[in-house]
Amino acid sequence: MASSSPPQPLLRGLPAAALLLLLLVLAPAADALACSSQNITNSTLYSTCLDLPTLSASLHFSYDRANSSAAVAFVAAPPKGEDGWVAWALNPTATGMFGAQALIAFRDAGVMTVKTYNITNTTVRESPISFETWDRAAEYKSADGTMRIYAKIKLPTGDPAKLNQVWQVGSSVTNGVPDQHAMAAENLGSKGTLDLVAGTGRSPAPAPTLVPTTAPTLAAPPPSGVSRIGEGSNGAFLVLSLAFLVSSFFGF
Ligand SMILES: *[C@@H]1O[C@H](CO)[C@@H](O)[C@H](O)[C@H]1NC(C)=O
Ligand SMILES: *[C@@H]1O[C@H](CO)[C@@H](O)[C@H](O)[C@H]1NC(C)=O
Ligand SMILES: *[C@@H]1O[C@H](CO)[C@@H](O)[C@H](O)[C@H]1NC(C)=O
Ligand SMILES: *[C@@H]1O[C@H](CO)[C@@H](O)[C@H](O)[C@H]1NC(C)=O
Ligand SMILES: *[C@@H]1O[C@H](CO)[C@@H](O)[C@H](O)[C@H]1NC(C)=O
Repeated sequence: MASSSPPQPLLRGLPAAALLLLLLVLAPAADALACSSQNITNSTLYSTCLDLPTLSASLHFSYDRANSSAAVAFVAAPPKGEDGWVAWALNPTATGMFGAQALIAFRDAGVMTVKTYNITNTTVRESPISFETWDRAAEYKSADGTMRIYAKIKLPTGDPAKLNQVWQVGSSVTNGVPDQHAMAAENLGSKGTLDLVAGTGRSPAPAPTLVPTTAPTLAAPPPSGVSRIGEGSNGAFLVLSLAFLVSSFFGF
């Protein structure tokens, strides 16, 4: 009676698995522009770099266990160059944008700056955030069109190996306020978990991790330990992300 159990779940999982393999094959080429080649200011501050799974973004970081703090350098390219913005955030209370304690970099009255935002809805306003930051700086590199956020942060209480991070890019800023970002799959899926601890003490950057942990919705993450790659909207998300990565890889 083994034939009575339908093979659908496996079959449904196969295309996503094949795409994941394809993505892993393409990854080294796509990453040639990211982590390793980025000319990060004060690069010795950061022991590890991760290429994030969407928006061609990277995070360089070091974790200071004694101080419960981290040095971070976030790198991404605003879609239309230097008039845009880039954002990186930890979210102590949820997995998406709402609740994110964000650092946003942009050119403000001609000067690259990085400001803090407690994001509660789609209208962002500069405000204090729930953890301390210092040594904040921002740069725009016209050579590769990237903006960088540099900061040291006192980590929120909780496990530094299981942080929720969120990142984003936008193409414009109006009167010192970052405008709404695009709503493409890669913009909605730009979030995941961050393990600062595994990154400490490693000099060579670890292999890029692929962690689109949640579907591009505000829904709760799947139960831990359960692989959902081939299922439902996570599968759709992977396919969309892949479509984006492939098209950007080939320069479409
Ligand atoms: C890296 O950036 C520094 C400071 O902006 C610059 O002096 C140096 O030439 C750059 N190096 C490369 C390889 O781009
Ligand atoms: C780099 O280090 C120097 C010296 O510590 C500091 O003044 C500068 O602000 C740092 N720049 C960045 C972008 O972190
Ligand atoms: C430890 O954290 C504090 C902020 O809480 C900071 O002022 C200080 O410079 C940090 N010390 C080191 C060694 O990083
Ligand atoms: C949206 O967030 C902004 C900035 O935090 C806040 O000033 C505003 O009151 C919020 N609006 C609503 C409708 O909650
Ligand atoms: C961020 O905004 C939320 C909602 O308005 C508020 O409860 C929280 O205290 C704010 N956090 C900080 C650090 O101001």
